Amino acid sequence: MKIAFIGGGVMGEAIVSAILDKRLSRPPSITVSDVSQARRQYLEQKFGIAVTDDNRLAIAKAEVVLLAIKPQSLAELLPELNGQFKPGQLVLSIIAGVNIGTLRRGLSHNRVVRAMPNTPAQIGEGISVWTATAEVTEMQKRWAGSILSAIGQQIYVDDEKYLNMATALSGSGPAYFFLFIEALAAAGEQIGLPADMAQQLVLQTMLGSGHLLQKSGKEPAELRRMVTSPGGTTAAALAELEKGGFNNLVERAVSAAYKRAKELGGEQ
Ligand SMILES: NC(=O)c1ccc[n+]([C@@H]2O[C@H](COP(=O)([O-])OP(=O)(O)OC[C@H]3O[C@@H](n4cnc5c(N)ncnc54)[C@H](OP(=O)(O)O)[C@@H]3O)[C@@H](O)[C@H]2O)c1
Repeated sequence: MKIAFIGGGVMGEAIVSAILDKRLSRPPSITVSDVSQARRQYLEQKFGIAVTDDNRLAIAKAEVVLLAIKPQSLAELLPELNGQFKPGQLVLSIIAGVNIGTLRRGLSHNRVVRAMPNTPAQIGEGISVWTATAEVTEMQKRWAGSILSAIGQQIYVDDEKYLNMATALSGSGPAYFFLFIEALAAAGEQIGLPADMAQQLVLQTMLGSGHLLQKSGKEPAELRRMVTSPGGTTAAALAELEKGGFNNLVERAVSAAYKRAKELGGEQ
């Protein structure tokens, strides 16, 4: 697969690395275009791929063009690439909050996949939700699916509305998790644990619980009940969380992220 990247930042690098690991493509078939000379040099040395600062040159021979720039760089990119794509090329965008209509119009191109990955993609543990325009062929959908599978799990949806919802849940989700870890570790320190021990206890508890959930095949509510004996320590903590409106607070947080995702994508 001949693949070009516009933007070789954190996500671009993660995807290049995963594609090479999974042998979906080989270094001579990958070109990264990036405005930063330091990034180009780094990526060329690390992966032996082709690099350029010329976006038009980068896309010329590619079968798949992966857009991995920040949303704020898009206004500059669209006019530069408008009309430059051949009808058969696939554009795969991971740019947060930029909807397919904007890309279709801005690039004058119809074969577009929009994906929403998340940061654990950097270690192949991400999850992406993606959709494609009707013009994208079955083979191109398989390509997109295999690229996204290289950085973790992937879920195809046939309605773009789910992308903003996924943004609020899995896109922003790692930050919710990290915040909860920070809060738990701070609470551990508050009751007298040394900081590094609190951190270790919390981290392994989160990882272990996640793996237990995955491997046991049980529902989270069932596993929660199993550690919650009546009148016990866990019950005391959960009662406090309930009193503070924990579930409702999480719901409001996710709704706020969803609202913001729609606003950024130009919807209300
Ligand atoms: N990071 C994540 O976990 C994550 C998760 C889901 C979705 N996303 C989305 O993925 C996209 C990329 O994120 P990222 O974290 O990889 O961003 P990033 O690290 O900032 O990478 C973007 C790269 O593209 C370069 N660039 C900017 N404008 C360009 C242009 N016109 N032509 C060529 N290169 C250009 C940037 O250079 P300069 O820095 O010099 O501008 C930078 O090296 C964003 O839309 C983000 O929302 C990211």
